Amino acid sequence: MAFIDEIKARAKADKKTIVLPESMDKRTFEAAEKIIKEDIADIIIIGTPEEIAKNGAGYDISGATIIDPFNDPNKQKYIDKFVELRGKKGVTPEIAQETMEKDYMYYACLMCKCGDADGAVSGACHSTGNTIRPALQLLKTKPGISSVSGFFLMEVPNCTLGEDGLFVFADCAVNTDVDSAKLAEIASLAAESFTSLTGKDARVAMLSYSTMGSAKHDDVTKVAEAVKLAKENYPDLVVDGELQLDAALVPEVAALKAPDSKVAGHANTLVFPSLEAGNIGYKLVQRLANAGAYGPVLQGLSMPVNDLSRGCYADDIVGTVAITAVQAQG
Ligand code: ACO
Repeated sequence: MAFIDEIKARAKADKKTIVLPESMDKRTFEAAEKIIKEDIADIIIIGTPEEIAKNGAGYDISGATIIDPFNDPNKQKYIDKFVELRGKKGVTPEIAQETMEKDYMYYACLMCKCGDADGAVSGACHSTGNTIRPALQLLKTKPGISSVSGFFLMEVPNCTLGEDGLFVFADCAVNTDVDSAKLAEIASLAAESFTSLTGKDARVAMLSYSTMGSAKHDDVTKVAEAVKLAKENYPDLVVDGELQLDAALVPEVAALKAPDSKVAGHANTLVFPSLEAGNIGYKLVQRLANAGAYGPVLQGLSMPVNDLSRGCYADDIVGTVAITAVQAQG
């Protein structure tokens, strides 16, 4: 069974409620119709009657709950929660109301925070920054986690590398500045993400342009230090590096460059040394290898909220909702 079909089956087995705030985009309705028909999740759409009529015309979303952000009987509860969480940052009831009415992602995150939804998916018509900022501000990280990061579950066709073509790539979406400590934490979260979504053990490669000291530079030292920290802080984590991509993936290259490594040649979870490398790397594999790229999925948040690419299709939204629902089960 393809990865995403397994995820859908898991989502169906214990249905969660996922909120879609982008009623200004037709793809939201096309996706909602499919999700309801396939029984993957219960869906809440945030939108005014005008937005629903204009963009939802022709789609059967009769099984979805529609929340009008201007006339919702629960709205005061969300305003109060917003002020409780962000009052110290200057959020007054008036600012809370205006923000929620202007940007439905805030509304969606408050619904999650108040227990009225289990997760949210947005980003078909909003940038990554604007999609995840409300989640960072309102939902915050899981206890003990310092930073939220973003990964892609990559499904490479006709590939025997990694986990028969399945990989987690991280961080491809969030952190513009990563030091060794952040990289080590990303490695641990990425391994958990790989295992929870695929059911397989993660083998984490910390990527660089150097393998085990073959090059000398501060960038290389940063990754080598991250490997040391990851091994110290997460003793159960199967991690190694620093490794070049070919040494991480290809057994014959690993035998030459890192013969003593248990990860080299067999990595299924790739931690990139910077956001540039991660973002460019996943798009290269997606476009040149025609790989499925599910994400960016956020890891380290207290509740599952996930982003979409603005070039996404309705089916990508369906897949991301299924992943979000499975994260919510965990
Ligand atoms: N983890 C946890 N919390 C965070 C993180 C993080 N990684 N980053 C910021 N925060 C918190 C801050 O502490 C702050 O909390 P506070 O307001 O309670 O004090 C809050 O989030 C807002 O932080 P800011 O720094 O003010 O927010 P800003 O918008 O400047 O930055 C953002 C956050 C949006 C994630 C930024 O880092 C960003 O734009 N990253 C790059 C996103 C991007 O463009 N990715 C590439 C495209 S993705 C793709 O191609 C699919």
